[in-house]
Amino acid sequence: MLSLENVTKRYGRHGEVVALDDVSLSVGEGEFLILSGPSGAGKTTMLRLIFAAEQPDGGRIKIFNRDIGRLRRASIPYLRRNIGVVFQDFKLLPERTALENVALALEIRALPRREIHERAADALASVGLAWKLNVTPRRLSAGEQQRVAIARAVVGQPAILLCDEPTGNLDPKLTQDLLQLFSDVHRRGTTVLLATHDLGVMACGERLGWRRVELEMGKIVPSATPNVLSFPISARVSGGTPAP
Ligand SMILES: Nc1ncnc2c1ncn2[C@@H]1O[C@H](COP(=O)(O)OP(=O)(O)OP(=O)(O)O)[C@@H](O)[C@H]1O
Ligand SMILES: [Mg+2]
Repeated sequence: MLSLENVTKRYGRHGEVVALDDVSLSVGEGEFLILSGPSGAGKTTMLRLIFAAEQPDGGRIKIFNRDIGRLRRASIPYLRRNIGVVFQDFKLLPERTALENVALALEIRALPRREIHERAADALASVGLAWKLNVTPRRLSAGEQQRVAIARAVVGQPAILLCDEPTGNLDPKLTQDLLQLFSDVHRRGTTVLLATHDLGVMACGERLGWRRVELEMGKIVPSATPNVLSFPISARVSGGTPAP
């Protein structure tokens, strides 16, 4: 369904920042993959490359068995039609209401206007925002904006869902509700990649049997590394040394 083959991405004037370093990864159809790793590890970079928002400096990315680096520019919107995405910074249109922001994701499809609105309203209801349909992002809290972005990403029932730290602004109860929503979307057949450094999300994913791949300094950490989740929370928080 989706693969990265020896993908390298560099930033900086002289390419001195290696955001992804020769990464190879294969994600099967219908898989739920958690991409973990510390800040700066390369998680967002990987999702941006998969969304064809940027090109890798080396290697290739295949989606539906097609090398997306070889797509004509005009074909990229067709690729994206199959991909729902929750960006780390939401990217909502500030002048549009929550409902309009979600509806826009459906407007490329030939659906009657009423159906678009019904589906958008249902998606917003599924993230607990049924009563905020006509509010613009400026008047929504960060957590509410994040949920509008999630509704927009899932409304079209995409083949692939890319979520970048989708629970970063949410309280534990909402986080649980949204993990349930992602799990439902996944059960309906969507392949999901979710980037996070939230240990609670990772623990939940582990319980649900989602695969986890850890990035560190642009490389995939071999899975033989001890699982951070198997350490007691207190040891993780204090670095294992009890406070004097
Ligand atoms: N546009 C850019 N220009 C220069 N450097 C960048 C750019 N985008 C990312 N980087 C660098 O690439 C590395 C990987 O960044 P990335 O945003 O992918 O990390 P991340 O794992 O998503 O981190 P976080 O958990 O903080 O979101 C970092 O060192 C970052 O500073
Ligand atoms: Mg990031």
